[in-house]
Amino acid sequence: MGRVVVVGSLNIDSTVEVERHPQPGETLLGGDLVKHFGGKGANQAVAAARAGARVSFVGRVGDDADGDAYISRLAGYGIDTAHLSRTTGVSTGHAAIAVAADGENTIIVSPGANGRVTVGDLATLNDLGPGDVLLGSLEIDADVVAEAARIAAARGARVILNLAPYAALPGDVLDLADPIVVNEHENELLAADGYTPRSVLVTLGSKGSRWGAHEVPAGAVSVVVDTTGAGDCFCGTLAAGLAAGLSEPDAMQAASLAAAASVGWVGAQP
Ligand code: RIB
Ligand code: NA
Repeated sequence: MGRVVVVGSLNIDSTVEVERHPQPGETLLGGDLVKHFGGKGANQAVAAARAGARVSFVGRVGDDADGDAYISRLAGYGIDTAHLSRTTGVSTGHAAIAVAADGENTIIVSPGANGRVTVGDLATLNDLGPGDVLLGSLEIDADVVAEAARIAAARGARVILNLAPYAALPGDVLDLADPIVVNEHENELLAADGYTPRSVLVTLGSKGSRWGAHEVPAGAVSVVVDTTGAGDCFCGTLAAGLAAGLSEPDAMQAASLAAAASVGWVGAQP
């Protein structure tokens, strides 16, 4: 069974439930503030660990109480945090999230320490080999994620790149990924950039997911409480499945079921 190395962000999510999202210039009253551990990278790492993978995390927290709490949190899931650094003089990443009654969210991220991740943090990727998986997402510097993909691919590991939030990557980097993972919105932005990567998995919300010839339905959802992090849950579970040697459609199926389960709870990681 291979290992999964996640290169990405960690945020403290501050979530408020609202009836509907505000218009520009509008003030709305919402519900009680709820804080959760979040960030696309960390959400993915936790999903992969909960799916049974051996996971290492590459990223940065600030030198604050949130950062310390986050390191303990990931270690509690058995995630290797040796390459998760505390960064002096900067806050741990934060996300301000509004969740509307229909479960749809809007998110504003303050990257903080996530913005300080550099290629110097990627040393552990040199230990990757065939059967291992690199999972990267884009709440950190895209150039660092691109370099991570190059190192992992050169070692024979599988590269999964989640283009969230969307940022353009060079075509040669996109082609290292098997697959690129995008939602429908990100897929449109990718298409608008005029380059078609060799392997693209599109998550389609309640319509399931599509990866080349593989089409997998969404898992059954009885009530949508909060879709925050459903895509991250999908990516982390997919990475774990592929690292465990599942076939591509079986890994997609596992990812779909986990993502469907995740929307029944407030918060990304819970
Ligand atoms: O994808 C969901 C995540 O996006 C949240 O946890 C928030 O931190 C932002 O990174
Ligand atoms: Na959730």
